[in-house]
Amino acid sequence: MKVAIVPGDGIGREVVPVAEGVLRYIRPEWDYYPVEVGYGRWERCGAAIGAEEIRALSEADAILFGAVTTPPDPDYLSVLLQIRHDLDLYANVRPVRGPGVDLIIVRENTEGLYSGIEWSLPGSACTLRVVTERGSRRIARFAAGLVKGGHLTIGTKANVIKSDVLFRRCVIEEAEAAGVAWEEKYIDALCLDVLMHPARYGVIVTTNIFGDILSDAAGYLVGGLGMLPSANIGDKHAFFEPVHGSAPDIAGRGIANPVAAIRSAALLLAHFGYADEAVAVDAAVNAALAAGVRTPDLGGAASTVQVGEAVIGRIREW
Ligand code: NAI
Ligand code: MG
Repeated sequence: MKVAIVPGDGIGREVVPVAEGVLRYIRPEWDYYPVEVGYGRWERCGAAIGAEEIRALSEADAILFGAVTTPPDPDYLSVLLQIRHDLDLYANVRPVRGPGVDLIIVRENTEGLYSGIEWSLPGSACTLRVVTERGSRRIARFAAGLVKGGHLTIGTKANVIKSDVLFRRCVIEEAEAAGVAWEEKYIDALCLDVLMHPARYGVIVTTNIFGDILSDAAGYLVGGLGMLPSANIGDKHAFFEPVHGSAPDIAGRGIANPVAAIRSAALLLAHFGYADEAVAVDAAVNAALAAGVRTPDLGGAASTVQVGEAVIGRIREW
């Protein structure tokens, strides 16, 4: 199995080595190779990612990614949007798990407001929100496939945005075809209700930007952005990354929380059939946190590397 390791920028360069260490500990025989993308590459050669990196990523069975810095510059194309698009990683899966919370946000990952069709004019700028029947149906089937006994919650703004009327209809039809019970909520009310009554929710499916916002907000339930892993899944490729960004405010100090990245490595293991190993990693993370090995964002004093060592030590004992 070939695993591309992509630290990216900022704290990506600190948390990915820790998560890679966990993977290497469990699967030392896999072939790991680094791929450099991001702001650093942009400063050096004027592009954050090139054809060679896209090829290296598309040759991998799995990609473990950190985060990239994306400046708010109209000429800077987001590396992540390009990778998600080129590898057709259409399902962004964001589990939010903790005491009293066990939900999965499934975010459509290739279209919507992040379709990349936009232009700036003097005095105005326009971004097209493209929603297709094909894109909506495949994310709906993917999300329905994750529902185990409960129901599927559909988050839209179909009362106001016409592209969500299409999305909503497609998801309902696919849920019914799959025999999955569904409910719907408008995304603004859903953001609040998920925070107030998390136990009501299992699998939530929504469009690209709404899922982006909802999943960061849901991080509140489990200790913040440093805790949330994600998987970006397509029919041919699988890409795993923490939900958080490059956190320039704390980068370079060795205090970033590596839990989101380690849990992303656990999602990678689970995706490729190593369910027991994934459980072992998650259990080791929980045990390390319970023992008080925590980075400052969780009120502790441990470093990124110390959390990694504590987790590997507990996998060894598992
Ligand atoms: P961010 O997620 O990098 O940081 C938000 C806040 O959470 C910061 O105060 C940060 O210190 C804290 N935080 C995030 N992850 C943490 C961790 N593991 N441990 C401890 N604290 C953590 O989001 P922000 O500030 O909006 O964006 C910073 C840069 O990251 C921007 O250039 C943005 O475009 C990029 N970004 C990249 C993403 C990616 O590569 N997937 C996702 C989100 C943002
Ligand atoms: Mg985000």
